Amino acid sequence: MAYKWLVILATILLLHVTYGARIDNQQEDEFLYDTFPEGFMWGTATSAYQIEGAWREDGKGMTNWDFWAHENNGANMANGHNGDVACDSYHKYMEDIDLLKNMGAKSYRFSLSWARIIPTGRIADGINQAGIDHYNRVIDGLVEAGVQPFVTLYHWDLPMPLVQNGAWLNETIVDHFTDYARVVFREYGDRVKFWLSFNEPHVFCPSEWQYAQHDFFQDPPVKPYICAHNIIKSHAKAYRLYDSEFKPSQEGKMGITLNCDWPEPKDLNNATHVEASDRSMHFHYGWWANPLSRGEYPPIMREILDEKSAAEGRNTSRLPTFDAEWTEIINGTLDFFGLNHYFSYYVLPSNGTSTWLDGDANIQQEYDPAWNYTAVGWPVTPFGLRKVITWISKEYGFPPIYVTENGYGSYERDGLDDPERVDYYTNYINQMLKSIKMDGSDVKGYAAWSLIDNLEWVSGYTVRFGVNYVNFTDPNLPRTPKQSAILLKKIFSDNGFPQPSP
Ligand SMILES: *[C@@H]1O[C@H](CO)[C@@H](O)[C@H](O)[C@H]1NC(C)=O
Ligand SMILES: *[C@@H]1O[C@H](CO)[C@@H](O)[C@H](O)[C@H]1NC(C)=O
Ligand SMILES: *[C@@H]1O[C@H](CO)[C@@H](O)[C@H](O)[C@H]1NC(C)=O
Ligand SMILES: *[C@@H]1O[C@H](CO)[C@@H](O)[C@H](O)[C@H]1NC(C)=O
Ligand SMILES: *[C@@H]1O[C@H](CO)[C@@H](O)[C@H](O)[C@H]1NC(C)=O
Ligand SMILES: *[C@@H]1O[C@H](CO)[C@@H](O)[C@H](O)[C@H]1NC(C)=O
Ligand SMILES: *[C@@H]1O[C@H](CO)[C@@H](O)[C@H](O)[C@H]1NC(C)=O
Repeated sequence: MAYKWLVILATILLLHVTYGARIDNQQEDEFLYDTFPEGFMWGTATSAYQIEGAWREDGKGMTNWDFWAHENNGANMANGHNGDVACDSYHKYMEDIDLLKNMGAKSYRFSLSWARIIPTGRIADGINQAGIDHYNRVIDGLVEAGVQPFVTLYHWDLPMPLVQNGAWLNETIVDHFTDYARVVFREYGDRVKFWLSFNEPHVFCPSEWQYAQHDFFQDPPVKPYICAHNIIKSHAKAYRLYDSEFKPSQEGKMGITLNCDWPEPKDLNNATHVEASDRSMHFHYGWWANPLSRGEYPPIMREILDEKSAAEGRNTSRLPTFDAEWTEIINGTLDFFGLNHYFSYYVLPSNGTSTWLDGDANIQQEYDPAWNYTAVGWPVTPFGLRKVITWISKEYGFPPIYVTENGYGSYERDGLDDPERVDYYTNYINQMLKSIKMDGSDVKGYAAWSLIDNLEWVSGYTVRFGVNYVNFTDPNLPRTPKQSAILLKKIFSDNGFPQPSP
């Protein structure tokens, strides 16, 4: 999330917005006392590089993140932090599973390190049995604890030889990813019934750390669209493989996790602001969801990017096109939609100053000083979770949705009392309930980010997202539930917010 965080901080610093009256979204919504559908899949989430450590153990290969964290004597990372040890979950995974069990979690979303399983990223170079065995132990521990494993194949850590081969800009990676997926389905699919191909491609496609390459970015952007094109192909190939060879016997489901914050029209009575919000959703979420569910990029993206590319004197559009064969392969490859959501912002038509994706979408963002902000500067806007879920539901015909991340980041604070995080979860989860009960959305599960404090990418350990505290100054890295973990335990066991007895 680091990229997003920097963008927001920069935006807040640049803005001098003065309107403060617009908090009606929070005020008009009363708390809803009701419960979630039966079998709702409550859980928490983590990712491999952020928690595992053991960066050079048992045959694991090096990744872009191992490189990025060590390059420049650690200057790429806050305080020179890195994931060499992280929460040491490679060894302490049973402690993590105990936390899940104590919270009454029904599922655990975690990611596999590709380089632990296939050290070079290329199957022809060999598979690492120690890596396979490690995740077998984790999965067995979860199953024994009654916790469904919800597995992400790719959460930003790429084997270094593939990085050096152009990473996601080189189409040959599609086959490497499919080979990796085959190993994973074969080894773990008997026990894992929920698969996510990718985590937040919207964040990693334009990020320099993904390619271990400084000054990666260019405006007007070309490479992020190529990355996205190959991610979509990779997801679809893995999905087709699962669907034909594994699903018939393993009976699992596969989706992708897309991050999407909510673009609230700045002036709800101004049609151009409402259109800007819709356009933003098509660019930020539809960019991936549309090809995977309908076989093509959103028509509005196609129209705008083809037009801009021509005006820039290019002979091809910056937004690539799927040929007929690929259209058929990608079309209809989501069993469910994954959503990571943290906050909202205002949108309005661009005055021509936005860069990157919002520049291409002809929109600009603004932030309201009347909103509350997390300690790291993200708006606390619970209404946005309901609105984003409802937009996706209406646009894509009310598909099954799993909220795969949502949470509150704070700066280092040596304590277990986290009232802001408690409020955040209470209010966001309540809005998610409203999207189900009042808008008819088919949300089937929720994973709080994160199970434990962990390495927040380039922010290192300075930002804590955990509902369980990790003491990083104690070499044993003990985990202790915060108040927010105790709150979630109650929401999980109540399955929501039952009407309090009079
Ligand atoms: C893409 O991958 C192929 C096959 O590994 C390799 O031959 C080629 O050099 C790569 N292209 C780039 C631009 O790295
Ligand atoms: C609607 O929004 C646009 C863009 O922000 C602005 O130029 C226009 O004046 C607004 N119209 C009204 C009626 O407020
Ligand atoms: C995707 O598949 C649907 C359902 O079969 C079909 O109606 C639609 O035309 C396809 N999309 C494209 C772009 O071919
Ligand atoms: C399109 O533009 C590229 C880059 O400027 C150039 O190399 C290529 O020859 C052009 N192709 C056609 C068909 O004009
Ligand atoms: C464009 O909008 C931004 C955000 O509202 C503002 O800071 C900036 O001054 C505007 N630029 C122009 C040229 O109007
Ligand atoms: C900000 O947080 C305080 C304390 O939790 C709460 O009372 C207030 O309603 C919040 N304001 C907004 C705009 O959400
Ligand atoms: C963290 O560990 C250090 C070293 O053992 C200890 O001094 C400190 O009190 C611990 N902090 C918390 C909040 O438990």
